[in-house]
Amino acid sequence: MSSTPRPATRTDTARVLGQVVLPTLAGGVLKRRPKVMALAGRLRLDRPAVRLLRRLRSRYGPDPVPLRIPRRSFALVLDAGDVERVLDRTPAPFAPATREKSAALSHFQPHAVLTTRGSERRPRRRFNEDALEWNHPLHAVAGAADTAVREETARLLAETGDRLDWPAFNRAWWRIVRRIVLGDGARDDDEVTDALATLRYHGNWAYLRPKDRGLRERFRRTLARHLDRAERGSLAGAVADTPAEPGVDPYGQVPHWLFAFDAVGMVTLRTLALLATHPVQAASARAEAGDAMGPSQLPYLRACVLESVRLWPTTPIVLRESTETTEWRTGNLPPETTFVVFSPFFHRDRERLPFADRFDPDVWLDGRAQQDPALVPFSEGPGECPGQNLALFTASTMLAALLADRDYRLLAPRTTARRLGSGRRLPATLDNFGLRFAVTKP
Ligand code: HEM
Repeated sequence: MSSTPRPATRTDTARVLGQVVLPTLAGGVLKRRPKVMALAGRLRLDRPAVRLLRRLRSRYGPDPVPLRIPRRSFALVLDAGDVERVLDRTPAPFAPATREKSAALSHFQPHAVLTTRGSERRPRRRFNEDALEWNHPLHAVAGAADTAVREETARLLAETGDRLDWPAFNRAWWRIVRRIVLGDGARDDDEVTDALATLRYHGNWAYLRPKDRGLRERFRRTLARHLDRAERGSLAGAVADTPAEPGVDPYGQVPHWLFAFDAVGMVTLRTLALLATHPVQAASARAEAGDAMGPSQLPYLRACVLESVRLWPTTPIVLRESTETTEWRTGNLPPETTFVVFSPFFHRDRERLPFADRFDPDVWLDGRAQQDPALVPFSEGPGECPGQNLALFTASTMLAALLADRDYRLLAPRTTARRLGSGRRLPATLDNFGLRFAVTKP
């Protein structure tokens, strides 16, 4: 076939850049910018993006739509079946290591599996899967992680009294993350995670910003000191125990784990906001939380967390770059085309999903969500998130600890608080940085 799928007009390309790509980049791809997130929430910036993609799908049909961008080939995926195809056929012909991701991650993590191409990808992926025990609901570190989460949550609640907000939550959260990833000995080492946060801000600018090699080297040395301790019950211990083939760079995989836990914290507090405004679901969650003794799978709370990531994906744009010519219904697209999957479009598609804009954890328990190939909060296929189970375990355990003997009322952001509990369609964005709760003992 020599034809290509019909490209978007210049005007439609400009709309996609302005309404889909720019708001995502402005919010910060690697490290969220709180002020932009708050503004996006107030202006409801994501809603027009979903509407625009719906219009494009009826105008151009289901094939990926090539965008008119000079010197580069980009195509917007608009069909649920094509999302499945692109993600299932990773890393060839659809490589996760796109130019944009490599430029962003090279600021602090040049050997990340996500940006590895060719034969080195497989051993790095295997190492991540093994060390993170990706297909086990409970990791070997679950016992120690459960203790860390419960201790830090109890301290947080004791310190904050009748109010809980993002800054207090976030301080406790990073103590938890450092204990789980690097061991109890790293609990108070803000420096290591602050350095990573700065490098991630730099990564937001990808190739537009020079690398700070001095800071990267300081971060690498501090991280290595913690990993050398290989503390039992932490992922540092798992790194030491997991065989690695030559070229894997085990320590070089850990920055991704640390920064990915940032998303888990955001999702945890958003889920608390959902539960604070949905009494029926909160009753089920609370019942499960009350029954939990030691590290547990907590299926209902996990479903709540998955639902929160479906509603507000923390990786809203998943990119894949083709390694060869790819064939579609109406024509071919050349090698080195970057395919853009904008997940909020599929996750909130009212034409396919009766539950699109509702908080309905049951869809993850009865299989409705898993049956849909385009519900991909943790991606899918050979490039799916190997930290998914660990993320779900940590978030659901913290929610269980928060809910065990406290009630929460969402106070801020005020418009969000009114909207979430109103029974109307859930908003397209939820600014986690602005969340504030009134806390009471039942
Ligand atoms: C709410 C929490 C999280 C979400 C929503 C999430 C989502 C995702 C998504 C969508 C991808 C695919 C990205 C792409 O293809 O461009 C991914 C990849 C990845 N995630 Fe996560 N993630 C989360 C937490 C974690 C955690 C806690 C870890 C590690 C401890 C982790 C480790 C990884 C790794 C190593 C990859 C790269 C996989 C590869 O390229 O094969 N993630 N994640």
